[in-house]
Amino acid sequence: MLKFVLLAALSVLVLAEEEPQPRYLEDSLERVVGGEVARPNSWPWQISLQFQSGSNYHHTCGGSLIRRGWVMTAAHCVDSQRTWRVVVGEHNLNSNEGREQYVSVSRVYIHPNWNRNQISNGYDIALLRLSNEVTLNNYVQLANLPPSGQVLNHNHPCYISGWGRTTTGGNLSAQLKQAYLPVVDHNTCSSSGWWGNSVRNTMVCAGGGKDSGCQGDSGGPLNCQLSGRYYVHGVTSFVSARACNESRKPTVFTRVSAYIGWMENIMG
Ligand SMILES: *[C@@H]1O[C@H](CO)[C@@H](O)[C@H](O)[C@H]1NC(C)=O
Ligand SMILES: *[C@@H]1O[C@H](CO)[C@@H](O)[C@H](O)[C@H]1NC(C)=O
Repeated sequence: MLKFVLLAALSVLVLAEEEPQPRYLEDSLERVVGGEVARPNSWPWQISLQFQSGSNYHHTCGGSLIRRGWVMTAAHCVDSQRTWRVVVGEHNLNSNEGREQYVSVSRVYIHPNWNRNQISNGYDIALLRLSNEVTLNNYVQLANLPPSGQVLNHNHPCYISGWGRTTTGGNLSAQLKQAYLPVVDHNTCSSSGWWGNSVRNTMVCAGGGKDSGCQGDSGGPLNCQLSGRYYVHGVTSFVSARACNESRKPTVFTRVSAYIGWMENIMG
């Protein structure tokens, strides 16, 4: 079942895909909500976080490879006890393309201030220690993280990427998708008619038009371009419960630059 989180008058829907999706669209023309299928492995730090159910693994969330043995994802993706695995080099969840590396998770570090019942407080971030270091190659690369404290301007160009549902209540995408989601600055995002006081300045808002993240995209990156390189500025966190792409309810991300110190402490 989907998890609804009530806060004040607004309800938000966290973005983990919690229900196993045994079948996927093989050749759908649908894309994330909006956006398009990504060129395979063009976001080479994007990982698929999967949980074990019986003898199968199911995609639940995205994440970013930040060191050969570490993945950054959302706290709400991993705050239940499961057997996890991470897939790097993935593009099509349903077919083995020979570029994938599968690695188990030896330890989960959830931000100590995370509270599933108060998602609007923020802290929706976690680190996964991988049981083995992955091999870097053309399909698997480390994410660039922003400098601590960096905040992007309104309309800064960014892309979300993920295998999340392609419409509100729809199916996961077999192939990794991307959508252009320009930054919505905190002043705008926290104004009435937008997210109001449900967003903090430790979050990044992006989108708010017809394209958005949706269930299954959580934990994955908001990839933002600065001087010709992409930096992972956000960890996909939540959308409106009414619709993934509700107008003036941009997709909300954990602001990575607010947690650089926390992450460095853990990874040593
Ligand atoms: C989701 O996938 C199932 C199984 O392939 C299909 O029957 C259903 O119509 C799909 N739903 C949507 C909204 O595309
Ligand atoms: C949300 O996405 C659906 C499917 O792509 C689209 O039909 C709808 O117009 C979008 N909603 C908004 C507010 O843009």
